[in-house]
Amino acid sequence: MKPALTTRASAPAVAASADLQPLLLPTAPVEPETSVLDVARLFLDPRHAGLLSLPVVDAGRPVGSISRYELMRVFLMPYGRELYGRRPITALMNARPLVLAAATPLDQAARAIATHIKSPITDDFVLVDAEGRYLGTGLVLDVLRAVESRLAERGGELERAYARLKSSQLQLVQSEKMASLGQMVAGLVHEINTPLGYVRNNVEMSRELIGDAARLVAAQQSVIDALTGASEPGADLDARLVEIEALRPRIDAAALEDLGGLLEDTLHGVGQIGDLVLNLKDFSRLDQSGLQKADVNKLVDSALKIVQHLLRKRDVAVMREAGALPEIECAPAQINQVLLNLLGNAIQAIEHERGRIVVRTQVLDGRVLILIEDNGKGIAVEHLSRIFDPFFTTKPVGQGTGMGLAISHQIVEQHGGVIRVASKPGVGTRFLVVLPIAARGEGA
Ligand SMILES: Nc1ncnc2c1ncn2[C@@H]1O[C@H](COP(=O)(O)OP(=O)(O)OP(=O)(O)O)[C@@H](O)[C@H]1O
Ligand SMILES: [Mg+2]
Repeated sequence: MKPALTTRASAPAVAASADLQPLLLPTAPVEPETSVLDVARLFLDPRHAGLLSLPVVDAGRPVGSISRYELMRVFLMPYGRELYGRRPITALMNARPLVLAAATPLDQAARAIATHIKSPITDDFVLVDAEGRYLGTGLVLDVLRAVESRLAERGGELERAYARLKSSQLQLVQSEKMASLGQMVAGLVHEINTPLGYVRNNVEMSRELIGDAARLVAAQQSVIDALTGASEPGADLDARLVEIEALRPRIDAAALEDLGGLLEDTLHGVGQIGDLVLNLKDFSRLDQSGLQKADVNKLVDSALKIVQHLLRKRDVAVMREAGALPEIECAPAQINQVLLNLLGNAIQAIEHERGRIVVRTQVLDGRVLILIEDNGKGIAVEHLSRIFDPFFTTKPVGQGTGMGLAISHQIVEQHGGVIRVASKPGVGTRFLVVLPIAARGEGA
């Protein structure tokens, strides 16, 4: 019989395919009547050095396999060689080898190997075509390698997918940031534009008025000079008088009073722009002044003092419930701003006579709670999710910038705390600020 041929040109191309085809070794099969001694000789052929077993094939179909291990076991027996050497290999072969179709998917093959082949591994498996005809042999080790490299490949794929996901998420966050920045800038432009518009208008009107006034004074002066003989009465006296007549109805006491009003409005507009800029400055970062130990009760009381005149004006009663608090680490000016924003909103929300604001402080689970509750008009359900957005306001133009809560949210978060709202339209609103005793979080 011909020696079996099992050389392989190159390493199996496992990655490309998902079945056993690339692992196929075209091993020349052993015929059933081949003697045990001949088979032993075949195993000594260096071309079969890598094989654990040889397939036994009859009329193109695998009928068994004979392993190196089995031959050695027999040959090691006393007289084993003599007893079995001349018998056909069918006397020793494994009649139930693992037979797999070449098209078997890798993972399925790995499962079959795991259940069929015992430890220690003494056999290779036999590969057949779809009709069960013998094709060649396959090595258990090759399957393991193939599975491993597929796993590695999948791992690589996963890693690449993860990297792609991460970068696209980053882009998303980035574009979201840009969008909210754009929104902020747009809102800011709008907010600044309104006062800027009337400031410019007022300044122009004032300049016109002042120009007229200057011309009137000059004309009157030259007439006076002519009349008092300080200068030669020139030919232009008449023209001067006509000019004075024209200017006088425009520049009178009322006009000058108007000018005062215009300038006052202008100052107000400039003040509004200044406030806006200040708010934005605060919005950008936690105060550089840094952290200090502070008594939140004191901060609350000083905020209440600041809004006292507003409370009195609207006849709003304040119920102050101050719990014993440990000092907390915070930027006091910033916390003050949060309190002023919340109190200001509460006062502005009250449109009836029975105004009442509860301000309670307490310590809970090592954190300081500040509760500010009003019985004002409440917040519409559809607005609740937007009140912390920069420039979200329901107040008339000129009354609210919509930055109060956005800034407050930012400040509280930078302190490592949380701010929560609960509201019922027509009943009232409750804001809860929770601050850690030791500040943490970015910037704090
Ligand atoms: N206590 C409250 N009761 C009812 N509505 C509130 C209350 N607090 C906030 N709001 C609603 O949330 C919106 C946003 O509040 P925020 O403080 O951010 O801006 P604003 O008060 O409108 O303007 P600004 O604070 O800049 O003057 C308000 O316009 C209002 O509709
Ligand atoms: Mg506000």
